Amino acid sequence: MGIWNSPEFDAHEQVCFFSDSATGLRAIVAIHSTALGAAVGGTRFKAYTSDGDAVDDALRLSRAMSYKAALAGLPTGGGKAVIIGDPQRLKTRELLLAYGAYIDRLGGFYATGEDVGMGMADIDVVGEATRFVGGTSDGSGDPSVHTARGVIHGLEAVATRRLGADSFAGLRIAIQGLGAVGMSVAERLHAAGAQLVVADIRADTVAEASARFLADVAPVDQIHSAAVDIFCPCALGGAITEAGAAEIQAAAVAGAANNQLSSAAAGERLAERGILYAPDYVVNAGGLISGITTGGNLRAATGVAFPPLGESLAVIRTRLLEIFERSDAEGRVPEAVAETMAQELIGRPSRRAEIV
Ligand code: NAI
Repeated sequence: MGIWNSPEFDAHEQVCFFSDSATGLRAIVAIHSTALGAAVGGTRFKAYTSDGDAVDDALRLSRAMSYKAALAGLPTGGGKAVIIGDPQRLKTRELLLAYGAYIDRLGGFYATGEDVGMGMADIDVVGEATRFVGGTSDGSGDPSVHTARGVIHGLEAVATRRLGADSFAGLRIAIQGLGAVGMSVAERLHAAGAQLVVADIRADTVAEASARFLADVAPVDQIHSAAVDIFCPCALGGAITEAGAAEIQAAAVAGAANNQLSSAAAGERLAERGILYAPDYVVNAGGLISGITTGGNLRAATGVAFPPLGESLAVIRTRLLEIFERSDAEGRVPEAVAETMAQELIGRPSRRAEIV
């Protein structure tokens, strides 16, 4: 199959291949859409098994950024970059500067930030060669607290829609993963009167949550099936398998983890069982929203005056309620509706449907 017809290509506006033999840099920048504004997305530095895998990863991640930004109501498009190679061996200051110079050459159609294999210090170096970066040490800072604030809006949306609850007081909520986002979500829910059930592979964080929030502790392999009102996955992707979906006792699922559904069938199982699923990339957009609306460079790149961050984050709640309403009206699962809405916002249908 040629690249133009590959499922991942999905009518990308632009894909750039960069190389610099002096530093060993080989990078791909994929720009899915600039219909809503400059494309924004992190740079992943990773050793891929083949160049084809690297291209596919860039394309898939770039499209996901387009959809996420559109549904978050941001005036930005979606893009993503990959640098090919083992960051431990290949990453040098010179390579990062060469990469920054190439990003600069794109003239603001693409702005980048951290992703797997690239930390804030690396983005600071890239930022010496281009102003089209976000998430630098003098920028909007650690996104996880804003991601957690956004997750709370997501939990409010499912509590309202599925449980008719206008507060968390008395609700039982299971949190899988007590890292940067999960612990912050736990803190906020505890303060709002929720009863927590938690699990993490790290004993120290579990002990902390148990002591600070009087949380019940569940075994790591059983947290998804805890007897709670809402399940909040904040660990790794694939938290909900088809078999696991049959075991969930919660009435709704909303959390930060990326790619929570291990397959489309897992989402269908949830819907069949009347479990309301809030699409992960809508729920976890808080970090992106804070990066765009409060980060100096990116805000300048978009040229838009944003409302206070609290208002921008609240879009997560209203967008989810819109998705749930349409999901009921059309009889389609929320994750399918979210994708359709993102495509409508971007102003073009997905070409994936045409490709068999
Ligand atoms: P983190 O690495 O700080 O925390 C993840 C936690 O999950 C760790 O405490 C880890 O021990 C735990 N964990 C790993 N495997 C587990 C398992 N099988 N069962 C239970 N716990 C397990 O990551 P962070 O930043 O809190 O992110 C959480 C999720 O949210 C990730 O999927 C991430 O991709 C996603 N996300 C995070 C954003 C952010 O701003 N940090 C933004 C958007 C998405």
